[in-house]
Amino acid sequence: MTGSAASQAPASSGGGGTPARHVAIIMDGNGRWAKKRFLPRLAGHRQGMEAVRRTITAAGELGLEALTLYAFSSENWRRPAGEVADLMGLLRHYLRREIDALDRNNVRLRLIGEWRRFEPDLVEQLDAACRRLERNDGLTVALALNYGGQDELVRAARALAEEAKAGGLDPAAIDAQAIEDRLDTKGLPPLDLLIRTSGETRLSNFLLWQAAYAELLFTDTLWPDFDRAALERALECFGRRERRFGGL
Ligand code: IPE
Ligand code: IPE
Ligand code: MG
Repeated sequence: MTGSAASQAPASSGGGGTPARHVAIIMDGNGRWAKKRFLPRLAGHRQGMEAVRRTITAAGELGLEALTLYAFSSENWRRPAGEVADLMGLLRHYLRREIDALDRNNVRLRLIGEWRRFEPDLVEQLDAACRRLERNDGLTVALALNYGGQDELVRAARALAEEAKAGGLDPAAIDAQAIEDRLDTKGLPPLDLLIRTSGETRLSNFLLWQAAYAELLFTDTLWPDFDRAALERALECFGRRERRFGGL
């Protein structure tokens, strides 16, 4: 893994040679992938899970520090109950099936969003997976589960208000860092590249704060077709971007 990361390092370079540290993906298009094949939507979600496995392996080998994956949004509860149940079932299945491989690949797991509102057994399974992988020091995979960027900011605002009310925080001292420190992504590297698959060109409430200066990349590839080559192409594209952060 290390050798391959070293040999592939230029692929993740960007902004004058600075390699991408943190990539996030809005994994969209599972339903359309299935529809094109006259299959039920669940078949698309299943293939989407295979794409998750491939992409995590590739991200580790390409030397990324963090990969944040939008797996279930705070708005996805609006889907039919059967589809929500299918997605929860797949998550349980994924954790059971992949935990050993994630550990072997030195992956650490972070969860962002209100995942503790899931069914108690799934919350316990997610907690156990994080504990099992917590001593790893390779790629950090952050799974966004019941995540919404607005909800994350609301929770951060509430936390700040509570601290101010308790007297431990002067409202005048609240700055961008104070907000960042109360986001679910606290401690992750700054977001470099945000990818959305399936041709849609919106954020759908993903990483609203963190995307402030991220490079955005929209690809027509449907998520179940995403693979190592697609990630490499995205990182090559990132490498050609000039990031100015408001300067010259
Ligand atoms: C993304 O694929 C998976 C989730 C949102 C959980 P979709 O299910 O949104 O697929 P499309 O957009 O209907 O093709
Ligand atoms: C965004 O995709 C959420 C995830 C990929 C988990 P959606 O398919 O839910 O987004 P919209 O509804 O097209 O905006
Ligand atoms: Mg979609």
